[in-house]
Amino acid sequence: MKALLTAGGRGTRLRPITHTQNKHLIPIANKPILQYAIDAVKQAGITEIGIVVGVDNGHEVERAFGDGSQQGVAITYIWQEAPLGLAHVVKISQEFIGDDSFVFYLGDNIVVGGIERFVEQFNNGASDCLLTLARVRDPERFGVPEFNDEGAIVGVIEKPTSPKSPFAVSGIYFYNSSIFTAVNAIQPSSRGELEISDAHDYLLKNGYRVGHSEITGWWKDTGMPSDLLEANRLVLSKIEEKIDGRIDQFSDIAGAVVIEEGAEVISSRVRGPAIIGRGTKIIDSYVGPYSAIGNNCQLDGCEVEYSILMERVRLNNVGVRVEGSILANDVEIVRAAGKPRVQRFMLGEQSRIELV
Ligand code: G1P
Repeated sequence: MKALLTAGGRGTRLRPITHTQNKHLIPIANKPILQYAIDAVKQAGITEIGIVVGVDNGHEVERAFGDGSQQGVAITYIWQEAPLGLAHVVKISQEFIGDDSFVFYLGDNIVVGGIERFVEQFNNGASDCLLTLARVRDPERFGVPEFNDEGAIVGVIEKPTSPKSPFAVSGIYFYNSSIFTAVNAIQPSSRGELEISDAHDYLLKNGYRVGHSEITGWWKDTGMPSDLLEANRLVLSKIEEKIDGRIDQFSDIAGAVVIEEGAEVISSRVRGPAIIGRGTKIIDSYVGPYSAIGNNCQLDGCEVEYSILMERVRLNNVGVRVEGSILANDVEIVRAAGKPRVQRFMLGEQSRIELV
């Protein structure tokens, strides 16, 4: 079995972060989102991985993961000229997949508990396609299955206005080569994309066997800023304490906290679950639960909670607690000196601040 991962797209709902960064490289608990997909397929014993990237920001992904040899997998990059839909992604990957069966894994999906169970079910079962489903509050955001009285899926509709079930088809799909017949048969949707849900619907309407399995643990499609913070919270809630950095005698650490090598906690309080990256300095500060502080940041006289700080972020005497925030690389929030007392902003396109 091979794995096909997606890492393209513009991530428009995650701007301004995605103006300068591919969304799949945004860190969740200090690890790029896409790394979770690679880890999950590797853990399921799959080492031949194709990553589909866009021509606009794919090189960043290639730089981050290389040929995969460092982590014991073989990565092939497949270049998509334009974002023409997930079924189009499958279509252009036929040569890489060949006659193998494969897991198609959307690189912005995070599933706690891995995919081994589904790989086993697909390999043992007699289906051409296995869809994994997650119960959600907002199915209209997703591909939604429709069931018959026997509990079998009879149709899949992409982003329906009146969902026929409370389930989302998650972005982790298992196929044999019959999916290529489907993606080559369907037509673009009204938004001009080849929809993966239409390919599933084609399989169902043409007598192919489409099985399903529910993700009972936790699953998240990280499309919006609040999803990133939630994913960060859930991943952090599973971390185990590991202190490789330095904590001085005036500091107090409680709960599951990871302090990476070269990090320093000075006269500060850290309440886990939280992670503090390499080379970061936390001085006279409070870092509260569900905070992921990236590498080489500096916090001085600040309070941070339930937030993602990427690399080299500098916070200095901010005055109010920073909460529910996502700060990209090299962001600085510092106290202004002198008079008059003003707020001074230097913000990129689509930045957002909320003041008290
Ligand atoms: C895509 C699929 C949708 C699926 C979702 C899962 O939606 O089109 O069927 O339910 O991924 O993450 P998108 O995230 O592109 O809106």
